[in-house]
Amino acid sequence: MNGTSLRGPGPIDIAFTVNGEATSVRVPPRRTLLDTLRQSLALTGTKRVCDEGTCGACTVIVDGRPIYSCMTLAVACEGKAIETIEGLAKDGELHPVQRAFIDADAFQCGFCTPGQIMSVVALLRGTAAPTEDEVRRAVAGNLCRCGAYQGIVAAGVSAGRRKQR
Ligand code: FES
Ligand code: FES
Repeated sequence: MNGTSLRGPGPIDIAFTVNGEATSVRVPPRRTLLDTLRQSLALTGTKRVCDEGTCGACTVIVDGRPIYSCMTLAVACEGKAIETIEGLAKDGELHPVQRAFIDADAFQCGFCTPGQIMSVVALLRGTAAPTEDEVRRAVAGNLCRCGAYQGIVAAGVSAGRRKQR
């Protein structure tokens, strides 16, 4: 076996949309979506905590579904629509879920917050006015070490109610 084969296959060009913009990157086949967003695209709003699929800090939306970007290879996202926390605010206005998190005091350190918000955004697309239980289920994969769960659930319910108006 020579040195080249030991290093494995070389970088691959992939294309997808990120927050609505056509994007192409060259990445090693083993690079995760999380590392691709943070390192190749400088989208550092998506956080790394456990890097092993247990905390949810890295949650982004891919083709409408919330996923752990630390457990997803970038090459598996070819042709897909990726949404990150950076894409939520429009024209200088926070997304209603971001606004609801602020109003409900739904964070302390804020490290889990982008992932929590992406999970709630995905929920609200399918469930216009979620109950507390529905919000709890939606963020069940998002851990908050600061214990801000009460505010997080309140923010999800409140964002749904605002959407109804
Ligand atoms: S960093 Fe991805 S689940 Fe924790
Ligand atoms: S606000 Fe600190 S981990 Fe959730």
